[in-house]
Amino acid sequence: MKFFVDTADTKEIAELAATGLLDGVTTNPSLIAKSGRRIQEVIAEICAVVPGPVSAEVAATDYDGMIREARVLRAIAHNVTVKLPLTPAGLRACRTLTDEGVMTNVTLCFSAGQALLAAKAGATFVSPFVGRLDDIGHDGMALIGDIVAIYRNYPALRTEVLVASVRGPLHVIAAARLGAHVATLPPAVLRSLYQHPLTDKGLAGFLADWAKTGQTIA
Ligand code: E4P
Repeated sequence: MKFFVDTADTKEIAELAATGLLDGVTTNPSLIAKSGRRIQEVIAEICAVVPGPVSAEVAATDYDGMIREARVLRAIAHNVTVKLPLTPAGLRACRTLTDEGVMTNVTLCFSAGQALLAAKAGATFVSPFVGRLDDIGHDGMALIGDIVAIYRNYPALRTEVLVASVRGPLHVIAAARLGAHVATLPPAVLRSLYQHPLTDKGLAGFLADWAKTGQTIA
């Protein structure tokens, strides 16, 4: 399973990139707004430290505007993935960009039918938002299971399922169990995957015993 990080905080991204565990980054207009910086500057900085796909979202809602913005975003770096909303115009733009060899991420997916459309439009990634579905009492992870199963029935569909709106480590484990290709994680969720009290306790015990030996490994 590939791990992307879902943030526009470049300091955080640089730290996580150094772990060697990061396969890509996703941003959205809200995350860029939170950064308080220009999108071109933020995306360029991220692409300089993460060689994998870096999603940058268009703000236009019409086809021509999306294509115009996609060209601006793609000019920033070769690994920019153009993020498009799951609307008729977004899917039309997705088809155009895919045919030009541009990576695309179709976002705001909340149903299996929408995911089928994204795959037929040639999306590189489709982003179902599990947390936002859970928030309204739906089963976000059931949607991931449906999409993964449906895509498996049609090997010609190359779209990868990118689990988005992840709220905690259990979402990550459930998505991996279902065979989702990618999960995009808030930094805190990625860090939480390291944690287990028995790891901390075990390490403390080993170090205490090691100190008694007076040895050094050199
Ligand atoms: C995905 O690409 C989105 O940026 C993100 O996962 C949305 O998450 P949220 O529901 O926590 O805002």
